[in-house]
Amino acid sequence: MQANKTSNADKTHKLLILDFGSQYSQLIARRVRELGVFCEWMSCHADPEIIKAFQPSGIILSGGPETVLDSISPRIPDVVFELDVPVLGICYGMQAMAIQLGGAVGNNHHSEFGHANLNLNAKLSSPLLKDMTNLNVWMSHGDQVTHLPKGFAITASSENTQIAVMENKSKKLYGVQFHPEVTHTPDGKKLFENFVFEICGCEQNWTSENIIDHIVTDIRKKVGKDKVLLGLSGGVDSLVTAVLIHKAIGAQLVCIYIDHGLQRLQESDYLLNHQARELDLNILVSDAQDWFLSKLEGVEEPEQKRKIIGRLFIDVFMKEAKRFPSIKWLAQGTIYSDVIESAKSGTSSHTIKSHHNVGGLPAKLHLKLIEPLRELFKDEVRKIGVALGLPYKDIYRHPFPGPGLALRVLGPVTKEALDTVRKADFIFMEELHKNDLYHKVSQAFCVFLPVKSVGVVGDARLYAPIIALRAVESTDFMTATSAHLSHDFLEHVARRIINEVKNVSRVVYDITSKPPATIEWE
Ligand code: XMP
Repeated sequence: MQANKTSNADKTHKLLILDFGSQYSQLIARRVRELGVFCEWMSCHADPEIIKAFQPSGIILSGGPETVLDSISPRIPDVVFELDVPVLGICYGMQAMAIQLGGAVGNNHHSEFGHANLNLNAKLSSPLLKDMTNLNVWMSHGDQVTHLPKGFAITASSENTQIAVMENKSKKLYGVQFHPEVTHTPDGKKLFENFVFEICGCEQNWTSENIIDHIVTDIRKKVGKDKVLLGLSGGVDSLVTAVLIHKAIGAQLVCIYIDHGLQRLQESDYLLNHQARELDLNILVSDAQDWFLSKLEGVEEPEQKRKIIGRLFIDVFMKEAKRFPSIKWLAQGTIYSDVIESAKSGTSSHTIKSHHNVGGLPAKLHLKLIEPLRELFKDEVRKIGVALGLPYKDIYRHPFPGPGLALRVLGPVTKEALDTVRKADFIFMEELHKNDLYHKVSQAFCVFLPVKSVGVVGDARLYAPIIALRAVESTDFMTATSAHLSHDFLEHVARRIINEVKNVSRVVYDITSKPPATIEWE
């Protein structure tokens, strides 16, 4: 890669998102990254020295669930205004800015939730609202700014919110009462473009090629001649991690693949005999199928299954890793949403499902950790995967949970049940692909239900378990709705499953949304 491209990836043009607890703060970061500009997310309680050291070209303050009228609610750290860079406050961020700079906020009982039309102040030329006329925006607030801080002007109003956009052009401070980051604000992208490029003066440097360059250079610098160990699962994140590290250090990368027997049909074979060969990866395969099955025997409770699998995974990995005493580094496919979620979960104790993770590994193995995807969102990981030459079909696969089919066999996990759900799932996936539906749904799979029901096959009575089909549409997997697959299609899949998979009495389709249901049945 040419030298000028490498220096572009230095991320000298970058934004900081300071989070005040908004459910949308990840979305803000994604909107900025989609524009080709690097940004990082930090809590509003971050150490001011860290904020300063980040040297942002601009700062965006997120919304938040609290009210600035409460004296103990979070405030904008002083360093934000001392850095003398452009600041955009969104909703709570705007209100905090107003209060802290000498304005006022009130609750005038004109809460606005939903769409609102903004009238732009035609007399003032606003850099933030450049090339916009009337804006349709998404509001979600009880409080609002009632008095402007000194030096600010109103550049847009809605029917219920007089100060919908405020700005101090000379100090480059901006506040919007609405949420430009959500898709319900159609011109939100334009507003971010104006802030990021016109106001902060950022350049587009966050492209797949630059990111790859940046990561590869970083890995080489970090590990030098050392060897790196990576647990390969077959999932997108670990595969892209492997390819990046391999690109950086070639044969110094050693991969371990734990065959726990909870994968989909032909999965291990495809990974080991096609992908790995094609990519020239050095893989040690650990056949642990019997061990996983025996430890899971008779276990019905899903949380217990998750814990057993998580623990076993670590044990097997540790055992195999000991074969490579000279290795100093452990690589993991952690992505940015994992980083943000774990930072956020520090404030929330409500765990719905304990996710499969191997977070305890580096400490136990006394290895240094390397996480090349730590700064990337899933869609960025996918784009990089494609830019690295990985096949589209491998990169744009539906998510698959770490504990695998153990979550999709309800009740005790047996070899027979796993084989049944594997075959049924293969048929469902094959039909989704054939009918050009696979990429139209966000996730689809089969679930094995251990309840038996009666059927007739030929002239014989069958008393056998049930398969449930699950297909959902979702943008972030936090919420989901059941996919509207046609009745004809579902009937066809059901017919194939009954005919081709032994010992299934009937097939049902799950039409529950999330919430209240989760996507996996467990
Ligand atoms: P739920 O079932 O919580 O799932 O609605 C949301 C999304 O997360 C996936 N999932 C997991 N992914 N490890 C993972 O890597 C896990 O332990 C795990 N559990 C659920 C699930 O498939 C869905 O996409």
